[in-house]
Amino acid sequence: MSTETIAGIPIARLSGFAASEAARYAKARPAAAQAMARGAGAFLGGVPMHWMSDWPMPHLPLISKAAGARIKDIDGNTLDDFCLGDTGSMFGHSPAPVAKAIRTQARRGLTYMLPTEAALTAGRLLTDRFGDFRWQIATTATDANRFALRVARAITGRPKVLVFNGCYHGTVDDTFVTIENGTTVNSPGLLGQINDLTATAVCCEFNDLAGVEAALAKGDVAAILTEPVMTNSCMVLPAPGFHDRLRQLSLRHGTLLIIDETHTISTGLGGYTRVHGLETDIFVVGKCVAGGMPTAVWGLSPATAARYLEVNADRPSGRSGMGTTLSGNPMQFACLVATLAEVMTPENYAHMETLAERLTNGLAKAIDRHDLPWHVIRVGARVEFICAPGPLLNGAEAALAHQPVVEAAVHTGLINRGSLIAPFHNMMLISPATKKRQVDRLIDNFDAILSDLCKAA
Ligand SMILES: Cc1ncc(COP(=O)(O)O)c(C=O)c1O
Repeated sequence: MSTETIAGIPIARLSGFAASEAARYAKARPAAAQAMARGAGAFLGGVPMHWMSDWPMPHLPLISKAAGARIKDIDGNTLDDFCLGDTGSMFGHSPAPVAKAIRTQARRGLTYMLPTEAALTAGRLLTDRFGDFRWQIATTATDANRFALRVARAITGRPKVLVFNGCYHGTVDDTFVTIENGTTVNSPGLLGQINDLTATAVCCEFNDLAGVEAALAKGDVAAILTEPVMTNSCMVLPAPGFHDRLRQLSLRHGTLLIIDETHTISTGLGGYTRVHGLETDIFVVGKCVAGGMPTAVWGLSPATAARYLEVNADRPSGRSGMGTTLSGNPMQFACLVATLAEVMTPENYAHMETLAERLTNGLAKAIDRHDLPWHVIRVGARVEFICAPGPLLNGAEAALAHQPVVEAAVHTGLINRGSLIAPFHNMMLISPATKKRQVDRLIDNFDAILSDLCKAA
């Protein structure tokens, strides 16, 4: 028997486990398999959105209902949902105030290209929750980031965006760069990208302030676009003092700072920016900000807004390149108001924090008990187990820490035991609707899987 291991797991054991879990998964979902065989051919690649093919199971389930922190498929399997739509449903599926707002607004029309009174309330609430910004509404965080970048370039008259290696800010073309032998290059795997993105982007490692300083010193960087914590690979926390120095560098070099809170909104009320007292020129958040209704917001600090208004007033008439028809629709405002006023509350965040801490401790104990070289990391309600030692310093380390084969086996094993976690990274979110018993079940399931994986052959 081979003694080779991946991330501390014997390979022979891992493949046996993965095969038996895949079979168990498929056996429990015959209706989904049959329905997909009949109906999925209408879709390109067999899925309505190609990310769906990234789930690690033998085939997809078909969901019949989700409520709170539970999700049910047409085969009658009910799971505790810790994926929560990869943050879109971080506040739980269909929070009651949001569902009510949708019902009410549905009787009043869905889209007008004109504001409602609720829009004004939403503006006030956005400022209350996130700080003194001048707001715009978009439909996706991708768009919000794109528009924020456009404003930064218009204001500074500079071409480049500085992003961190391994980042993800939505499908914003400019940000798909990485580092190869110390140089910025287009990220591998881009579909149909014919442009040399290095003309408009520069890539640095997260936590590398000297690298950032050198890039900014060239004087051609309009904006730094960053998450406060890198969440889109294995999670990477900022080193102590990183954000303060980053802000100082942005100010010194006349580069705007854009903070993308789309995932780190998990941190607590007002996101990482508010909880940690960061200062930014542009603030972006999407996904769960309207309780799961497709909505994102981007806000300019008063000084940035003044600069924008000046530049905007001076430009020749013509299309600005920002905005989409359905953005700023009344349904978004109804859902924003319901979420900001009644769902995104200190009480709900306190619940999320408490259970996320419980989950972190439980998973860490299981890892210790099995003596695996893994670690657990948390940003507020967002928890990840990483199949490598930590903490990680930057995107390069985070990429190496991924163990796709181990992760896929654990994911499917968890589903078979009743817990759903996020597919692209080992992310688990706690919502206000999540119960202590669901967290304890996830810890037990994780522990049971590790026991199975680590069992002597
Ligand atoms: C930090 C961050 N920003 C922006 C986005 C883009 O969000 P959307 O796909 O809703 O446009 C994502 C998506 O995962 C993200 O993680």
